[in-house]
Amino acid sequence: MTNNQHITVLLNEATKALQVKKNHWYIDATFGRGGHTQKILEEGGKVIAFDVDQEAIEFGKKMFGSSIKPGNLILVRENFANISSIISSLREDGQIEDIDGILFDFGTSTQQLKSNERGFSFEGDGELDMRMDNRLGVKAKDLLALIPTNQLEELFREFGGENDARRIAKAIKNSPHPITTTKELSNLIINIKGRQQGKLHPATKVFQALRIAVNTEIENIMMVLPQALELLNSEGRIVTIAFHEGEDREVKNTFKLWEQEEKGENLSKNPIIPTNEEIKGNSRSRSAKMRIFIKK
Ligand SMILES: C[S@@+](CC[C@H](N)C(=O)[O-])C[C@H]1O[C@@H](n2cnc3c(N)ncnc32)[C@H](O)[C@@H]1O
Repeated sequence: MTNNQHITVLLNEATKALQVKKNHWYIDATFGRGGHTQKILEEGGKVIAFDVDQEAIEFGKKMFGSSIKPGNLILVRENFANISSIISSLREDGQIEDIDGILFDFGTSTQQLKSNERGFSFEGDGELDMRMDNRLGVKAKDLLALIPTNQLEELFREFGGENDARRIAKAIKNSPHPITTTKELSNLIINIKGRQQGKLHPATKVFQALRIAVNTEIENIMMVLPQALELLNSEGRIVTIAFHEGEDREVKNTFKLWEQEEKGENLSKNPIIPTNEEIKGNSRSRSAKMRIFIKK
């Protein structure tokens, strides 16, 4: 589904993996533009959808009114790291019943990436912000100012896989003025690494690393997975789509451990990946890996 340019990745595969049953409840932990939510609703499921981004929630309220009104969709502006307490209070209020599946489509939406003001993109010019949740206190530009050189280097290497992490971290810290905009950072990196036509933009990895750090993306995944397992009905499914090696590794190791502990079945020793046709139509999907776990 295409909504205002965000193309949902692995739409059919993820919905099939959830095995949606009519009138049963599912959680879409990363609503975005609601592509997966829409499909679950079309298949007769009911959805509690989370997103930290106010714009995503506003979009959902506008576009999904016909599902919200009869109570088939509940939109929550919350971090999925707090999933247990939110679901408990919805249950106490009698708004929902047991949960049969939880879907995570980690990372950012196209709207977030493309918006200059949000500061995610090395292509535009805006303040280096990168907060998906604008209630958070620390922006990307603050991280650059606050973190010492060696930790900045580690961050670029660990979350971005950036080979020139040291040179870039040093250049940021030695800059005569603070680096506060996407253009300044992108130009600084181009100066160090150069730019080759047709190759990945040289700032891609550093921008990715900063985004993951600002939004504590790996920590959120570590926090939510045990809660998700606890919340599910027996035979309920967790489906994850990750675009970043570190995020996918966290899921992979957790599912493997759960299977060893006999908590259920890990269906994805090899992850499910998009078809060549999907990648051709949506290059953003090329790094996606989907994993499935079925609770005992
Ligand atoms: C890749 S997009 C999801 C796209 C969606 N599946 C669709 O088809 O439109 C990821 C969304 O998850 C949200 N998000 C990321 N981390 C989150 C978190 N910890 N809690 C809640 N929402 C989060 C982002 O704001 C973004 O809107």
